[in-house]
Amino acid sequence: MPRRHTHDVLVIGSGAAGLSVALQVADRARVAVICKSDLGDGSTSWAQGGIAAVLDDTDSIDSHVADTLRAGAGLCHEDVVRFTVEHSRESIQWLIDLGVGFTRLVNPGGPGEFHLTMEGGHSHRRIIHAADATGRAVSDTLIENARRHPGVQIFEHHIAVNLVVTGGRCRGAYVLDKERATVDLFSARCVVLATGGASKAYLYTTNPATATGDGIAMAWRAGCRVANLEFNQFHPTCLYHPEARSFLVSEAVRGEGGVLLLPDGERFMPRFHPQAELAPRDIVARAIDHEMKRLGIDCVYLDISHKGEDFVRSHFPTIYARCLELGLDMAQAPLPVVPAAHYTCGGVMIDRDGRTDVPGLYAVGETAFTGLHGANRMASNSLLECFVFARAAAHHILAGDPAAGMVDDTPDWDASQVRDSDEDVVISHNWQELRRFMWDYVGIVRTTKRLQRALNRAHLLKQEIAEYYRNYRVSADLVELRNLALVAELIIRSALARHESRGLHYTLDYPELAPEAEDTILTPG
Ligand code: FAD
Ligand code: SIN
Repeated sequence: MPRRHTHDVLVIGSGAAGLSVALQVADRARVAVICKSDLGDGSTSWAQGGIAAVLDDTDSIDSHVADTLRAGAGLCHEDVVRFTVEHSRESIQWLIDLGVGFTRLVNPGGPGEFHLTMEGGHSHRRIIHAADATGRAVSDTLIENARRHPGVQIFEHHIAVNLVVTGGRCRGAYVLDKERATVDLFSARCVVLATGGASKAYLYTTNPATATGDGIAMAWRAGCRVANLEFNQFHPTCLYHPEARSFLVSEAVRGEGGVLLLPDGERFMPRFHPQAELAPRDIVARAIDHEMKRLGIDCVYLDISHKGEDFVRSHFPTIYARCLELGLDMAQAPLPVVPAAHYTCGGVMIDRDGRTDVPGLYAVGETAFTGLHGANRMASNSLLECFVFARAAAHHILAGDPAAGMVDDTPDWDASQVRDSDEDVVISHNWQELRRFMWDYVGIVRTTKRLQRALNRAHLLKQEIAEYYRNYRVSADLVELRNLALVAELIIRSALARHESRGLHYTLDYPELAPEAEDTILTPG
């Protein structure tokens, strides 16, 4: 039997964005947090490098703003960038107060108490981190706090299928309880989408399995605009190893002196950009792609062995240990690396309070589009954005909305017309096909012809999945595939609409920068 749950706030997603909102409203509201598997299942707990923030007296807000704008290739919203950076210090303090154990300086006496590392695009050391497993430290602390907060009720293994919008307002969501196999109704005065990105649309990605763009798809179906979805960020250095396809080698490795080499030992990045390995990510990923295609090689190499074993082990204990398990000693030899889909810069359009176009519906974190990242996100600005906008949304939710009445007449999920699937192979086959054509046709270098080809495939797939969805009982795989197919279509449509090359969107048909920088906004309808 389906269940009915009622809370003040429903938070969909338990990463940095979702748990930060939940913890900041839970003293005054009853909160439900749902997530697909367990609380640490999103990208947050996989984050390595750290969180960008102005913490050092020799750094400045202007400098962080200027670096973000430069990396974003003219498309960042400067007011949003400034707003985010200005709130960076208080966000970090909030995390420290919650108990996050950031790496401290070994020899205090330098500027500030914490060790700050360096990453691409930054002109200053400003990344606060917990060794090379920052996300794990942040996630564990948020989870610990959420679990013991009496105002937070946690629902693991629950996947939201659709939002409930009645009378022009979001009033909750239909949610599949994966263990009981029922679709339950979660009613709430407001709903927060904190569902992460959509990098699972690509065959090779650094992301966990949860990154299927569910929030973007649900918001679109509910009537929200989306923006700049063509800007899919490819991280330059994903480990190239058959047994560890999604393992990231942090940009901090380059920040601390790592260099990129061709198989013959040539260091090639100085040929592409004056900042060499620390150029913004789009430039480094494109340079690697270019060299791989030019030479017909499967990977390039990242070398930090010259720093010595003690340095490598102490700065990158997690990466070092994982690579060693795979038979690669990064203190002795270069690591094989390739670019992989990493981050969704676009998303559901929100305002400074985290509000989407639909009253009662908020979006925070990677699923949202704030205007911060422009055409290319600067390293470690993502977690920062999660915390700054979670706080803003929490304030707005607590300030209350007089229109936010709860209605009890939402019907239960109707499963009377569907039957059990007898062809699950259709789902797994379509998953593979989608991720393959997105990789081949909507990747680092695009052309109009390739994008058109991908759009045709996406349309066919969407139709097939829609039919399947109408006839068969929903499963987690079906929910994700349905969302991913929609988001893939939105990504391709956005890419086709941009007649220039800017930041992460590079097309051979329009290799120049347009004189005016404009967002790509898609409106449902
Ligand atoms: P996530 O942490 O991805 O959480 C999404 C949550 O939503 C999950 O709990 C998931 O189960 C849930 N969810 C999704 N769909 C549904 C649904 N339909 N129903 C119910 N629940 C749902 N950024 C930095 O700033 N610094 C870094 O050092 C850094 N390193 C990174 C390293 C890796 C390997 C990766 C993959 C990313 C990294 N990033 C980094 C990016 C950053 O980690 C993410 O952008 C950020 O963590 C996103 O947080 P989030 O809360 O928006 O989403
Ligand atoms: C990394 O550690 O390289 C990831 C940083 C990021 O994605 O911001």
